Amino acid sequence: MNTQQSVLAPVLNIMVVVTILVVQNSSTCCLASSQHQNLVRWNHPKRELLDRINRKGPYVGVVMAYSTEEMALQSSGVFIPNCHNPSVDLSGRKFNIGSIKGTKVIYVMSGQRRLNAGITVQILLDVFDIRGIVHYGIAGSANNSLSYGDVSIPKYVAFTGSWNWENLGSKNVDEFPEMKIGNYNLPKEGQNLLGEIAFKPEEFFSVGQPMKEVFWLEVDKTWFNLAARLKGLEFRQCENATSCLPRVPKVEYGLRGATADIFLDNAAYRNFLFKEFQVSTVDEESSAVVMTAMSSGVPSIVIRGVSDLAGGEGTPVSTFLSSLAAVNTLNVTIKFIELIGASKNTLVK
Ligand SMILES: *[C@@H]1O[C@H](CO)[C@@H](O)[C@H](O)[C@H]1NC(C)=O
Ligand SMILES: *[C@@H]1O[C@H](CO)[C@@H](O)[C@H](O)[C@H]1NC(C)=O
Ligand SMILES: *[C@@H]1O[C@H](CO)[C@@H](O)[C@H](O)[C@H]1NC(C)=O
Repeated sequence: MNTQQSVLAPVLNIMVVVTILVVQNSSTCCLASSQHQNLVRWNHPKRELLDRINRKGPYVGVVMAYSTEEMALQSSGVFIPNCHNPSVDLSGRKFNIGSIKGTKVIYVMSGQRRLNAGITVQILLDVFDIRGIVHYGIAGSANNSLSYGDVSIPKYVAFTGSWNWENLGSKNVDEFPEMKIGNYNLPKEGQNLLGEIAFKPEEFFSVGQPMKEVFWLEVDKTWFNLAARLKGLEFRQCENATSCLPRVPKVEYGLRGATADIFLDNAAYRNFLFKEFQVSTVDEESSAVVMTAMSSGVPSIVIRGVSDLAGGEGTPVSTFLSSLAAVNTLNVTIKFIELIGASKNTLVK
C-alpha cells in the first residue's frame, strides 16, 4: 500500500459503513447505478429487459473464447445464474447474468479470434453496466520456462499479426524486429523469395485522445496490481496415480503475451517471437479484448493457461492438456473475481 492509499484508508472505511447503512435502509433491488448510460436504442426489442438487468449492476464482464473454456466454468458450479434473468441473446451470443462467489458477473463466450473477441467486448460495454473485463482462456507457450498448466497474467499484450510483407532487402523503417524468411531456410540460410516480414503497430482510438499507434498494450494498472496477490499460486501436478505433469504448474505474473489470427504450431516462429519480442504466451484474442476495453477506458485483465507449446513440443495438443489448462486458468480467474468483489468500495470503480 502506498502512502496516498494509507491516508485515504479511514475515509474509505467510513464510505463502506455509509454504503452498508444505505443497503440496510432500502431494498437492494432499487439500488440503480445512476451514472450508467447504455447505448441500446430506445426501441430495441430487449430494452426493458436490459434496463432491468442494468439496474442490478454494475457487473464484471467475463469473456472466454471457446467451448472448453466455457465448460470449465459451467462444470465448476461457481457461476450462479440470476433466477429472474439468467441470460440475454444479442448478436448470436449468449450473455449469462449471475454471480461468481458473490460478485455480480455477466459471462459470454465470444467465439475465437480477434474480430469475435472485439465485437463481443464492445457489446458488453455498450449494452451492460460493466466495471471491467476479465478475459481468460488457454494459450500456447513460446517461453521454455513456461509449461503445461502454468497460468500467465501478462502485463503487456500485442497484436503480432499485422505485417508489411516485403521483398528481401527492403529498408526496415519501423522500430520493430523483422523476420527474414531466408534465415530459416534448411539446410542453410540464404535468399528466399518470400522475402521478409515487418511488424506493424495498431491504430488505437480512445476517449478524448487523438488516434495513436501502439504495439504493446499495457493492461490496466489497478487490476494488474490487484492480481499481484495471485503470483506464485500453485496447482495440482497429478491428475491421478499414473498421469502427472513434469512439474508443479504455477501462476506467472507480468510477462508478455502475443495475439494473432493464427493458431501457432511452429517451433521456428515460436522461437522468433520469444527471441525478438520476449513473448511468453500466444493466443488469438487477448490483445483484442484489452484494446477494446482500453478504447472505452474500462479496466481489463488477461489470464491465460498453457495448453501447448505452440509447436515447440513436437506432439499435438491433447484434450487432457487443454482441459487441464482451462481448469487452472479458471481457478485463477475465480480468485481474481473474488479480489475485485472484495475491493468493491475501494480500489476499483
Ligand atoms: C519466461 O518465463 C519465466 C517464468 O517461467 C520468466 O521468469 C522469464 O522472465 C520469461 N522470459 C521472458 C523473456 O519474458
Ligand atoms: C484451485 O487449485 C487449488 C490447487 O490445485 C485447489 O486446491 C483449489 O481447490 C482450486 N480452487 C478452485 C476454486 O477450483
Ligand atoms: C489418469 O488420467 C488420464 C488423463 O485424464 C487418463 O487418460 C487415465 O485414464 C487416468 N488413469 C487412471 C488410472 O484413472
